[in-house]
Amino acid sequence: MHASGVVGVKIETLQLTVADAGEVLTLQRAAYVTEALSHNDLALPALTQTLDELRAELADPSCVTWGVRESGRLVASVRVRRVDAVVAEIRRLAVVPDRQGNGLGSALLATAEQRLPSEITTVRLFTGEHSEANLRLYSRLGYRETHRTSNGAYQLVHLAKTAPSS
Ligand SMILES: CC(C)(COP(=O)(O)OP(=O)(O)OC[C@H]1O[C@@H](n2cnc3c(N)ncnc32)[C@H](O)[C@@H]1OP(=O)(O)O)[C@@H](O)C(=O)NCCC(=O)NCCS
Repeated sequence: MHASGVVGVKIETLQLTVADAGEVLTLQRAAYVTEALSHNDLALPALTQTLDELRAELADPSCVTWGVRESGRLVASVRVRRVDAVVAEIRRLAVVPDRQGNGLGSALLATAEQRLPSEITTVRLFTGEHSEANLRLYSRLGYRETHRTSNGAYQLVHLAKTAPSS
């Protein structure tokens, strides 16, 4: 993947496993605090998910988790869940707070899309309605809003795009 890193730092995108669950939990909790604050919702699933639940997700064959390591440190991750034969869902894109805004999230999402199985024709994802930076990022990468659903006091914006390989 290409992202502006620190000169001399080795950046790798790897498939994560159950052995990485603790690091993924720490990363996702740190990253999603801003989402929780902007939606006034501390019960976000990304914050309340337990280690055991995360382990189960990492072991689920229908879900691939990609992670970015900078000189060994896990700085970003994303899950790709296969919904059916032709649809995949991007979940829990997260970058550690001190490395946000340097292109890692965009690059990881693009890498995850490039590594989709060839049968996948549609990629979808969702974010909270107040996540303006996320909505800009997804729009730049070609995602378009399909619909909104209510999540208590705010709405979730659902977006989709045609898979790059289809
Ligand atoms: C959403 C998230 C994954 C994006 O990752 P990121 O690495 O910060 O994103 P990027 O750096 O690729 O893009 C974000 C911004 O940085 C800018 N950027 C991109 N490449 C850049 C670079 N090389 N140098 C500096 N800035 C860059 C982008 O233009 C973008 O700017 P914008 O705010 O004007 O849209 C990350 O911010 C995060 O973890 N947020 C909290 C959790 C979350 O909301 N997850 C998604 C839920 S749906």
